[in-house]
Amino acid sequence: MREIENPKTRERAPKKFVETIIKDDNTRRIFNDVFDGATIATVHELARKGHFTEVEFLVSVGKEGNVFRCKGGNNYYALKIYKIETSNFKHMQDYIVGDERFKNVRKSKLETVIAWTKKEFRNLSEFTKAGIRVPTPIAFKRNCLVMEFIGKDGEAAPTAKNKPFEEPEKQYKIMCEYMAKMVEAKIVHADLSEYNLLNNGEELVIIDCGQAVSTLHPKAQEFFERDVLNLSKWFSKLGVETNYEKMYSEIKKRKTKKAEN
Ligand SMILES: Nc1ncnc2c1ncn2[C@@H]1O[C@H](COP(=O)(O)OP(=O)(O)O)[C@@H](O)[C@H]1O
Ligand SMILES: [Mg+2]
Repeated sequence: MREIENPKTRERAPKKFVETIIKDDNTRRIFNDVFDGATIATVHELARKGHFTEVEFLVSVGKEGNVFRCKGGNNYYALKIYKIETSNFKHMQDYIVGDERFKNVRKSKLETVIAWTKKEFRNLSEFTKAGIRVPTPIAFKRNCLVMEFIGKDGEAAPTAKNKPFEEPEKQYKIMCEYMAKMVEAKIVHADLSEYNLLNNGEELVIIDCGQAVSTLHPKAQEFFERDVLNLSKWFSKLGVETNYEKMYSEIKKRKTKKAEN
């Protein structure tokens, strides 16, 4: 599968750079096969700016994008690259149009994916500022996002789906706290489930924030309710005594408690 929105940029893609920055043959093959020249040039630019020195290997292949582990000095970083040709940009538009932070987004595939990447960066920044544990955003450009790598000793943290928390009751309370903070920060994640929570050695980390919308978005309430429903069902399966109504009021209660102080 090749994505060449401008064949000229592929010609200009810095081939030598690809060889030096991607030492692993398989990763290099993925890069050359899946990404267009402009994307490769963007990764080059991010490396040139000093965000990392090596793209090591693929951590995850998703419908919308691929996540790679990168290295820079003694640190690891996560690089999420959104695919352009195969992106479900109609779906993306549903979460961009109506968010007053992203008013002037044009309708092309490329423009939509670029706006989405910027939106994920911005959501991660706003969540971090609000005290919600997400990967710390580091940089973004075009369809590439660099963020903190979540894992221990270089090994990516499993999702909460694959490694459920040992103390679900405790993590449930933390999750309610984070959702109350989201309400305060006026952003709805809009894709919360055990698939988008990482279990980083029993620390809960929320990921996949591209679709998160402002509470002014016309569907914000619907998205929020869906998030509460997904998570209340899952925590209840883990043995926490909760349901949709309980979790909803728990989140709202926390918000009010804070407001009263
Ligand atoms: N910052 C990160 N650190 C470590 N692993 C990550 C990070 N971000 C994403 N991942 C891994 O990549 C997978 C896909 O990322 P996600 O943001 O959920 O994208 P999508 O679901 O759209 O493919 C995650 O389930 C996780 O395994
Ligand atoms: Mg995900």
